Parts: sequence; structure tokens; C-alpha cells
Amino acid sequence: QHCFSKSDNGFLYCEGTKVQDVIDSLEKRPFYLYSKPQITRNFEAYREALEGLKSIIGYAIKANNNLKILQHLRQLGCGAVLVSGNELRLALRAGFDPRRCVFNGNGKILDDLELAAREEVFVNVDSEFDLDNIVLAARKAGKRVNVLLRINPDVDPQVHPYVATGNKNSKFGIRNEKLQWFLDAVKAHPNELKLVGVHCHLGSTITKVDIFRDAAVLMVNFIDQIRAQGFEIQYLNIGGGLGIDYHRTGAVLPTPMDLINTVRELVLSRDLNLIIEPGRSLIANTCCLVNRVTGVKTNGTKNFIVIDGSMAELIRPSLYGAYQHIELVSPPPPDAEISTFDVVGPVCESADFLGKDRELPTPAKGAGLVVHDAGAYCMSMASTYNLKMRPPEYWVQEDGTVAKIRHEETFEDHIRYFEGL
Ligand code: LLP
Repeated sequence: QHCFSKSDNGFLYCEGTKVQDVIDSLEKRPFYLYSKPQITRNFEAYREALEGLKSIIGYAIKANNNLKILQHLRQLGCGAVLVSGNELRLALRAGFDPRRCVFNGNGKILDDLELAAREEVFVNVDSEFDLDNIVLAARKAGKRVNVLLRINPDVDPQVHPYVATGNKNSKFGIRNEKLQWFLDAVKAHPNELKLVGVHCHLGSTITKVDIFRDAAVLMVNFIDQIRAQGFEIQYLNIGGGLGIDYHRTGAVLPTPMDLINTVRELVLSRDLNLIIEPGRSLIANTCCLVNRVTGVKTNGTKNFIVIDGSMAELIRPSLYGAYQHIELVSPPPPDAEISTFDVVGPVCESADFLGKDRELPTPAKGAGLVVHDAGAYCMSMASTYNLKMRPPEYWVQEDGTVAKIRHEETFEDHIRYFEGL
């Protein structure tokens, strides 16, 4: 069951709610529209997959940091994966149990590490200098930090190079040749560090579960070696990265169940607690960016649909050449001609496109147009370029009502940065 679907008469619905009605009643500018029940369903898919395993689902907050969404995921039972002190503060604000949170990153700064130490979150060790900083943070906080070693297993995730992280020349994690150095360093700091697990994160938008299995096999071997030296390793963290069907071709992609099943026996065989860090696969398909058509034009051989949304609200197509499906929310006029369009925004960059070469009916001015699968890495990567202020967010709730879950950013918000200077 998917939250966004077209009725036979050509209207797009989010759960039972007509998207055109939401546009008409709420907004004169782009907005994000989520399905709250879909968030629940996505979480349940992971929970069911993990049945019978000791586990933590650490939601990767970077994918979407809406506080209302975080609170909902926390209530469902999620932990959180953080990459900055502010993400940690936000997780605490949303009520996450810090002992179910993991602090990741290749450039964690001392102040943030100290906060993490004080709050007793798991911390991933990413490099020699990172280990030094974690030791310093532990002393400052007066706490022994539970650490995992982020090992870079050199498994090719077969994704866009910008979202591959676990290959051997990556800036993330430590290479296995250096493992012994890190084990000795942990041993040398028994009051500051407690090694409780290993972590890897291969990349994002992964669509083959064999890749996770290959990595898990390597990781379990590392765990065996590390345990042989007397460490009590309890956690295997296999990161996030499961892809979704952005093309909406109905292609059969691996589900959370497929992902967990490929590592289940390995995890049980070593009596491990499995940590996973999904972002995209929990939140991406729960949301659309809803736009209006400003006009249609043709230059040279290109037809353009110009909308009010842009790369400022949603940068994935511009940044990664990512495909996100685009459609009109209401049936076009009966005589509308179908053509091939680039769907572009008003921002002063030729990189400002949401979709290229899309077959669409020529829309009327003011028609609603959605960019699908916009729940992950869209609002959280939005900017105010060209002073396009960040859009508001709404969700459709279980009872079909629509509620605002984030205010729009305003021009006055921008002016405030200069007050009193
Ligand atoms: N864990 C770690 C250590 C990560 O670096 C990431 C994502 C995740 C978990 C969550 O991965 P996911 O399940 O969402 O694939 N902006 C890019 C994606 C960047 C992913 C960064 N790391 C995009 O829009 O495609």
C-alpha cells in the first residue's frame, strides 16, 4: 500500500485526501506534504523484519529533521543516528533515549563529543584524531564512552560516487590494516573508552542486499578477531543505505525484510545486537513536494514547465542527477498535448531542474505538480538561495485531517539575522 496514488479520474490522493484540495485550501507556494500513516507503515516494516533479534533502529536524522516527525518515530520505538551536536540536541528535544543513539562522523568536534559523552550516546570512532578527541571528551564529561569502531570494509555499494562511503579511498571510517592500532589505543584508555561494537556504512540508495551481506560477513570476522583479544563486543552496526523505487516502475526492490534476512543468521550466530541506521527507506516515500505551474515555454528544441518550487527546496536532481518522479495532481484539460518537458524552477542557475525529459500533458497555469519521494534529503538539504524561503510542511493524519508540522520560513526571519548589528 502506498500513500500517494492516482484515482481513476486522474486526481492524486495522499491516503484519502485529494492533494488538489490541500493546495486550494492551504498554500500559494511550494510545500511538503507527508503521510503520517506511511511513516508508521515504513517503521513497522523494519520492526517486523527485526522480530526475534536484539536490535536498535537508529533513524538517520540527517534525512529529515522535522521535530514532529522525529517525535512520531521516537514514539514508534526508534533510536537516532546523529552527525552533529545540533542533531543530538534535537534528538534529545524529541525525547529520544540517548542510550539508543549513535554519534557518527569523520569530523566530530570536541564540544559535540563532550555533549555526546555526557548524554551517554554511542560514539563511532572514525580516525586516530577522532579517538584522541573522544578520550578528551570523556575526561571532560567524567564519563566512560561506549564506542564502536567505524570500519571501512571496502565493499562497493554500486551507487553514485557522491553517496558511496565504504570504499577504501573514502574519507569515512578506518581501514582494517589499522585495526590493531585502534584496539591497542582503546586498551590504553580503559577509563575513557569501552569498545562495545563495530560499525560500517557502505553508502546510500543501495538496491542489492548481497552488498549488505558481503559487508556483514567481513564485519563478523572482525568481531571474531576483536573478541579474541578479550573485548566484549555486543553490537554490530551495519549502517543505513537501503534504496527505494524512485522510478516508480514497480520494480521489485529489496525490502527491510530482505535486508535483515540476509544478515539474520550471522547476527544470531555471534549473539549480537544489530544496529541499523535507515534514513531514506523510512522517510523518502512518505512525502511529495507540491508545486504550482507558473508557465510553460519553449526555447530551441526544449520545452519547459516552470514551477514555483526549485533546487532551493529540493536539490537532489541538481546535485546527483537523481530521478524523482513528477506528475500533475489533477487531470489536465482534455485537449492538453503530451510533450517532453524539462521541469525547472525560477532560480538563477541552469542546474535548477527537478526533472529532465519528462513526458507530461501540457499543464495549465496554476496547475498543481508534485515531485515524489521527497521525504528524505529534500527539506533537510533545502537552502534559501535566491531568498526562496524554506517551505512549510504538512502531514495527512490517520483520520484524514491535514495538520501543519512546520512553519514556512519568512522574509522577516531573514531580516532578523541582521538586527542590532
Ligand atoms: N548512517 C550513516 C553513517 C550515513 O552516513 C547515512 C547517510 C545513513 C546512515 C543513512 O543512509 P540512508 O538509509 O538514508 O541511505 N544526500 C544524499 C544521501 C546522503 C546519505 C548520507 N549518509 C541523497 O540525497 O541521496
